[in-house]
Order: sequence, then structure tokens, then C-alpha cells
Amino acid sequence: MNPTPSRAPGPRGNWLLGNLPDFRRDVLGLMRQSAADFGDVVRFRLGPQIVHLLNHPDHVRHVLQTHHQNFDKRTRSAGFIKSVTGDSLLTSNGEFWQRQRRLAQPAFHRQHLVGYARQMTTATTELVQRWQARSDATAPLDIAREMMRLTFTIVGRTLFSTDVGTDADTLERAMAVILPHTFGRLGRIFNWPDWAPTPTNRRFQAALRDVNEVVYRIIAEHRRRATDAAPDRDLLDTLMRVRDGETGVGFTDEQLRNETVTFLLAGHETTANALTWTFHLLSEHPEVATRLRGEIREALGNRVPTLEDLPRLTGVKHVLQESMRLFPPIWIIERRVVSEDEVGGFRLSAGSTVVLAPYVLHRHPKFWDQPERFDPTRFAHSVPEAYLPFGAGPRFCIGSEFAMLEAQLILSQILQTYQLRRQPGHPVEPLPGITLRTRHGLPMTLHR
Ligand code: HEM
Repeated sequence: MNPTPSRAPGPRGNWLLGNLPDFRRDVLGLMRQSAADFGDVVRFRLGPQIVHLLNHPDHVRHVLQTHHQNFDKRTRSAGFIKSVTGDSLLTSNGEFWQRQRRLAQPAFHRQHLVGYARQMTTATTELVQRWQARSDATAPLDIAREMMRLTFTIVGRTLFSTDVGTDADTLERAMAVILPHTFGRLGRIFNWPDWAPTPTNRRFQAALRDVNEVVYRIIAEHRRRATDAAPDRDLLDTLMRVRDGETGVGFTDEQLRNETVTFLLAGHETTANALTWTFHLLSEHPEVATRLRGEIREALGNRVPTLEDLPRLTGVKHVLQESMRLFPPIWIIERRVVSEDEVGGFRLSAGSTVVLAPYVLHRHPKFWDQPERFDPTRFAHSVPEAYLPFGAGPRFCIGSEFAMLEAQLILSQILQTYQLRRQPGHPVEPLPGITLRTRHGLPMTLHR
């Protein structure tokens, strides 16, 4: 380690709140501008909290791979997410996390993806049929909302075999309370603790009770049905069956609840946003959309795609990769510094926070030629190192293959039937929450 690492540069802020007001006003703009002004390590102060933005692939490697043990998830945002998920893959650390990851991994093995792919295309066929049956086929549809519902249906079916009945409605309604509540807390310096009986806390707790009621009942139903001879119907069946190689112990009901709620949470909004931004970008670049539809038609005709078709749909994959470069659904990755460290000659003090921002790194002019240009062919030969839509290192997204499979199938199937056009004059802006949404939805018209 450098004997005298120095303090990283960063924008001046308010004497009391530091850079917090600017963060709240326009966090994406502030981070991009600061990276341009101050370089690959930028220091911010958010009230009492010191946060460093690290914007270089070497720094990403340091934090997520080579020195990952020194950067844990005891962060403010993980704390808020934990109020929803409990101790789970997304929020835990150390040996507990390692065990959960080892146990959950088999549910994402390739042999299961074939079945998941069928669920994905069935749900998408139903969506396209619903669109076709609309009485007013020219009215715009909010594609952001449509994608959110579709990916929620898919994650519900693949996890639990739960369908559009009341359970899915209850879960969806509860998530519509839980997600904004959790995001709202991230943006405030002071929050009432979970137990304080404020109106929003009460609504949040009620939504959480609804989720628990449904999820624990589904777990009990699965336990009753599960026998060694019964085939796995869904992800929950697979999770229920796994046993730790060393101890022979599997997941408790509470751990199953925590992991399935995590998958519900992590597994739908991310993919929905990736698709929403992709439809937006394709409508801005009709020449790319036309080429892509040609490729899909050639590979599939009118046939419903399967897992085996993916190698022939490389254009679809490149479009999604480029869309997630410009609008990464997880636009920021956060860690707490365990003990004092150093990156790029700058000091990171113990207990401070580091953030890696795919949204900023994916536009770094040193690593991307004309970063603002939408050009899916960038991914034709290799994936550049300054690219991390799914994170990196041991905590790389466990659902990345699931998500890419899902997004490729949905995009191909919708483009087989429709071209989507943006409604002229409607503003399209990113809204950085837990994921990167479109601020005002995305109304689009459908054309055959
Ligand atoms: C386009 C869709 C998706 C994107 C962009 C995405 C992105 C990410 C990223 C960046 C991380 C790492 C976060 C960090 O290091 O702090 C992550 C972790 C995770 N993702 Fe995803 N994800 C997607 C879809 C999914 C799906 C479909 C699932 C599950 C069905 C899922 C489950 C998880 C879980 C459980 C973790 C935590 C893994 C761990 O820490 O061991 N994700 N995801």
C-alpha cells in the first residue's frame, strides 16, 4: 500500500449536507459530471457519510474481485432492502452468504432453464394475444407497465407455479407499496425505524404481512407435495430439495421465504426495465429495429422461440447488451469499506462507502467510442471490460442467464408480431431508483 494515500478530489457541497442536495436533484448528472471533472476516483459527502465513486475497470476488479472480502454489503441501502427480504443472498455477508449462494446456485443450472424458457414464451404469447384482442388497437400502451407485469408473471410462475389468480394480484399490489417505500427511504437522511407507527410504515408493514401470508402458504403447499420421487415443477421445488454437501442441511422455511422474496424483487423489475429501454432505443433507431426483425424472421419464421434458438439470435442479444450499457437496470452497486484501503492512490477509510456506477462507467470515454451512440455492433466481437450490467466477482448476478434468456425470448416474440413506436412528444427520462426506470412510463403504439 502507498504509505501516504491522499484524499480523493470531489465537488464542493453544502457545509452541512455536503453533496446530498445535488444527489437528490440529479444523481446521474452529478456523478457523470464529477467523473469528467475529477477523474476515476471522486469523493462525495452525503450528510455525515463519505462516498467514493470508483470509475475504472481496475477499481471495479479491486472491489468486486481481488479484494472483495474488504468490501461488504453492510450498507444503508442493503439495510433497507433487508427490511423486505430478511437475511438473503442480496443482503447477507460472509459465510452465511456463501452457504446461501452454494445452495441456491443449482436452481439456475442450465437443465432448469429449458423449463423456465417454456414459461417465459407461454406468458409472452398470452401477452401478445391480449394485445391483439384489444378493442382499440391504435391506443398507446404503457410498455413500462406491460413489461413489469409480464416479468412479474414469469417470475411468479417459475418460482412458485403461481398464476394470475389472487396470489399474483396480492403479491403485485404489495410490491407496489414495498418498492417505492424502500426507494423513498434511500433518498432521505432521516427515516423512522421500521417499528415506528407512521402511516407509511403501517402501509409497508401491511404489504409485508400480505407477502408473508402468501409466500409461507405456498411454501407449506410445496412441502406437503414434495417427495423425493416428485419432479421439480418450479424454482421453489428445487430450492426445497437442495442439501448442503458438508452438513446435509437444507433451507429452513424462513430462509426459503427470504430467498423467494429476493427473487421476486430482484427478478422482475430489472428485466422489465432492460426491455422497456430496449423498446425505447429501437423506436429511436428504426433502422436497427428493421434489421433485427429481419434476423428474427429468418431464424424463427412465425415459430415460438426456444432455448435452442438463441445462438441464431445474436443480434437480439447485442441489442439488449447495448441497451443495458446505456440504461443499466442496476445503475449503481454499493459496498461498505471494512478496513482502510486504497485505490488509485486515494484513501478509502474504514466504514465509508464506495459506489460503482455502471451508468457512468458504461459511458467512460476512455473505454467507449462515442459513448452516447446506440450501436449494438460494439458487442459483435467481445464484451469490453468496462461493462458490468450484472456486477462482477463472487456476487455476480445469480439470475443473469435467466434474465438474458427471458429478455431475448420476450424481445424476439414481440418483434415477430409488432413494431413499437414511441408516442411523439412524450418525455423519456431515466428515473434512478432501486433500478433505472423511465420517469414517465413509456407509452407506445403497436404496428404490425
Ligand atoms: C436484466 C436483469 C438483471 C440485472 C441487470 C441484474 C443485475 C444484478 C447486479 C448488478 C447484481 C450485483 C449487485 C451487487 O454486486 O451488489 C445482481 C445480483 C443479484 N441478482 Fe440480478 N439482475 C437481473 C436479473 C435477475 C434475476 C432474473 C434474478 C433472479 C431470478 C436476479 C437475482 C439476483 C440476486 C439474488 C443477486 C444477489 C447475488 C449475490 O449477492 O450472491 N437478478 N443482479
